[in-house]
Amino acid sequence: MLKNQKDKFDLPNDVSYLNCANIAPLMNKLSILGKEAIDLRQRPYKISRDDWFKPPEILKRNFAKLINCDDFQRIALIPSVSYGIASVANNIKLSKKDEILIVHEQYPSNYYSWQNITKKFGAEIKIIMPPNEPENRGKLWNEKILNSISDKTRVVALGNVHWADGTLFQLEKISKKAKQHNALLIIDGSQSIGALPFDIQNIKPDAVFCVGYKWLLGPFSLGLSYFGEYFDNGNPLEENWINRKDSNDFQGLVDYTPHYRPLAGRYNVGENSNFHLVPILNGAIEQLNEWKVENVQAYCKNLIAKPIDELKNIGCIIEDGDFRANHLFGIRFGYSMDLEKLQSQFVNNKIFASLRGNAVRVSVNVYNNENDMNKLVSCIKNTLKASA
Ligand SMILES: Cc1ncc(COP(=O)(O)O)c(C=O)c1O
Repeated sequence: MLKNQKDKFDLPNDVSYLNCANIAPLMNKLSILGKEAIDLRQRPYKISRDDWFKPPEILKRNFAKLINCDDFQRIALIPSVSYGIASVANNIKLSKKDEILIVHEQYPSNYYSWQNITKKFGAEIKIIMPPNEPENRGKLWNEKILNSISDKTRVVALGNVHWADGTLFQLEKISKKAKQHNALLIIDGSQSIGALPFDIQNIKPDAVFCVGYKWLLGPFSLGLSYFGEYFDNGNPLEENWINRKDSNDFQGLVDYTPHYRPLAGRYNVGENSNFHLVPILNGAIEQLNEWKVENVQAYCKNLIAKPIDELKNIGCIIEDGDFRANHLFGIRFGYSMDLEKLQSQFVNNKIFASLRGNAVRVSVNVYNNENDMNKLVSCIKNTLKASA
């Protein structure tokens, strides 16, 4: 069992940070690495030619290991999920009867590019709504998604978990059904990869995108992606020199070549040597590989088990364990809850969690402890008493 890892972070003891789904705290050692990487630019003559290519390759290898992908060349560096989704949407042609299937209130970065191409080709976005009733919500929502995949479906684009409340989507089943209908499966792993095991070989998606700054515990503005076979000969969004074959031969750069680097190589963002951020993201992923993601998820499961029982006992609505993540979950209130009062309780007790609509999104990680969870439960109980 993984033990609490708070000593690796700089979070004060009186702060309960329950908002990794927003942005992760950086580990102390990675903050040092980042500062060293910035300082290196004061002495650029110490940056060798290898430094332009080798660190991004090591990062790709480590991410490939994290998601059980057997070829690091299927991994590309991206600046954001929206960039990745735009890259794949750029390579999909639709006809008028085609549908792109997404779920209700999907994150905007995994929506607008689909809206663009459906408009362009006169096709349709089909949004799968959750059931209205809280009973079996996750199970029924998954069934609705599966039942909505048909010969009209060209793309299924969704997350492994819903970003707002952690509802789990059964990607292996969705993938099987999508393949039966020749639809592409495009995954936004931003709210799961790093905290919830994700296995490329079991899920068999066509593309995966993931920000670096949430569950991968890395920096902002550098994320990772996986591109499957469908995209092997596609068109990248931009034509940068470093994605071309033999770009490490600096003398030959203007011997222009029509050839890209293999597989996902063409989809890397320009300036992907990113001397400042690559070491941070790589250090974070090395740490995750050492902890092992299944242990991170198990740590979170153990941490939230008792608080969730307590919250359910006082009438809070929380999705069943089988259809919800353990690192990210939503608390809904089946009675009128004064959310302003709850927010001020959070502020007074230095609890950082997201309030969305009439729900609270709680996201925990290996730096959280029992004290954080007890504070959360007390604040909700106290607000309930005050509102009664
Ligand atoms: C599910 C999900 N995808 C993507 C993002 C970020 O998107 P982008 O990298 O395009 O800014 C977020 C940010 O909260 C998110 O929750």
